[in-house]
Amino acid sequence: MRKPLVAGNWKMNKTIAETRELLTAMKDGLNAVNGVERVVCPPFISLAAAAEMLAGSKIGLGAQNLYWEEKGAFTGEVAPAMVKELCEYVILGHSERRAYFGETDETVNKKLLAAQKFGLTPIVCVGETLAQYEANQTRDVVSSQTRLGLTGVAADFAPSIVVAYEPVWAIGTGKASTGEAANAVIKDFIRSVIAEMYGEETAQAVRVLYGGSVTAANAAEFFSQPDIDGALVGGASLKVEEFLSIAKAAAK
Ligand code: 13P
Repeated sequence: MRKPLVAGNWKMNKTIAETRELLTAMKDGLNAVNGVERVVCPPFISLAAAAEMLAGSKIGLGAQNLYWEEKGAFTGEVAPAMVKELCEYVILGHSERRAYFGETDETVNKKLLAAQKFGLTPIVCVGETLAQYEANQTRDVVSSQTRLGLTGVAADFAPSIVVAYEPVWAIGTGKASTGEAANAVIKDFIRSVIAEMYGEETAQAVRVLYGGSVTAANAAEFFSQPDIDGALVGGASLKVEEFLSIAKAAAK
């Protein structure tokens, strides 16, 4: 059985002071939810404060990105070992990074291999844009993002990877996919590719999340699907009661 996982991607929201406020409001409730891995991913600059606040809790901490080089002249970037000092998880290849910051399947792959080397659990994002969806390219886009993203990963590391299926048209739009449609993409275009690459056992072990306008109201619809193991939550992860309800729904 795959353990459900709910991760909050705070994106570029919350100063250090605001991070402390939100975690103060969220921490005890979130800590008390059993049967689900729960993770928060604040901006880099808030990670140290968050790590301090979450020490001793069961709430995991994730970064939203990393750079693949280990150290040196890469102004503005954050090395894997720096992330690892504070975090267990790292989001990689989010569609906003692909759209605005030039991330490609190749850079996502380099980052994934760096996460592997440093023992971070990657949450690798894949998903088609609206234009690709409308042109019936979901299969091509999602399966090739999965294949190229995971290339060269060690067979013993592969089962610990987390993939997030986030259709770009559903992110921040209030127009979530449906449980059934998301499950089909995950089963047919993500797990099947992982099965080709690493075998059926690994494909069944990898956790695959849905992301894109997940709310307390629609979360259960996704979590009731056999191939959806949790959610990567944006906007709703900044609202205490919403995020708690989503975590509780995943725990059921
Ligand atoms: P929303 O939940 O705000 O749609 O964002 C989803 C997302 O991009 C999480 O990574």
